Amino acid sequence: MEPDLARVEKELLRVVASDGEFLTEIASHLILAGGKRVRPGFSIAAASVLDPDGAAATIDVIRGGCAVELVHLGSLYHDDVMDDAITRRSVKSVNAEWGNLRAILAGDYLLGRSSEIAAELGTEVAGVLATTITRLCEGQILELESAYHTDRSIDSYTRSIAGKTSSLLAAACRIGAIVADLPRPVVDAMTEFGTAYGMAFQVVDDILDIIATDEQLGKPAGNDLVEGIYTLPVIHSLADPVVARELRPLLTPAITTEERDRARDLVRESEGVTIALDVARTWADKAAATLSALPDTPGARALRAASDHLIERVAAPLGRKRFSRKPR
Ligand code: IPE
Ligand code: IPE
Ligand code: MG
Ligand code: MG
Repeated sequence: MEPDLARVEKELLRVVASDGEFLTEIASHLILAGGKRVRPGFSIAAASVLDPDGAAATIDVIRGGCAVELVHLGSLYHDDVMDDAITRRSVKSVNAEWGNLRAILAGDYLLGRSSEIAAELGTEVAGVLATTITRLCEGQILELESAYHTDRSIDSYTRSIAGKTSSLLAAACRIGAIVADLPRPVVDAMTEFGTAYGMAFQVVDDILDIIATDEQLGKPAGNDLVEGIYTLPVIHSLADPVVARELRPLLTPAITTEERDRARDLVRESEGVTIALDVARTWADKAAATLSALPDTPGARALRAASDHLIERVAAPLGRKRFSRKPR
């Protein structure tokens, strides 16, 4: 898969180049900064999920993965404006470097480039991506609507992350499988994998916001509490009346840095993180289960490894080496 991901890098930079030097610079900023490339990796793995040899991806699969990564990038440009985030991928965020106006425009530009590629890949791919962008906005709006609501429900949280995150990981897998012309039941299995993985992925990201450092994340840790985004570990912490007595009064738009740190400690010491981790593990197991009917290929193994690795990302900062996994 490494050589395919190197092709993705080249293609991403080629696609975002514009006639204007300034726009090219802003649009390339976060590509050059790195990132895990989970989504194009999933498009490539999903496309090859039936291939026993794990042959190199076709150019259409590479371009499908790029289209998905560009939607992700565009959403990060916009998300960092929404969340007032000053770092991303361990560099200055686009809004911090060039201001909100340019960050919004450059984000739109990336979405436009993505749509161009998707249109070349066919009506179905273009439709999947368009629906995904819609769902992403719906998820983000739901989150905004519950900002600073300490009574935010688990259902509201779940619907928000299904839209803002899970839908794009599902699209990454689905598009890979569609472009590779895999049988429909496999296209659907890949979509289910991405959906379940995407839920686990966001819960893990939300736990990391509580337990990890800025350096580990490459983006500001604890920022969710400052922005009034009360995620699963926080919601579960607030359900404990003893914790809630001290935690709830801290969670206001006026929260100071010291109060944020105290709130993080309270959540970390409560059952909230453990319960959220259990939820993430259940989603990750669900993702792995969608692969059970598939042959043992390099692509399927890569997807399975991704769902195992996800939970380990949280386990390490928590200082727990191993988790017992349910047999599957
Ligand atoms: C960040 O996604 C946004 C979320 C959905 C949590 P990633 O964690 O995949 O970010 P990069 O692409 O590696 O920077
Ligand atoms: C993730 O948003 C989803 C999108 C970017 C649409 P978050 O705000 O939860 O992600 P991070 O933590 O900033 O990466
Ligand atoms: Mg956000
Ligand atoms: Mg954010």
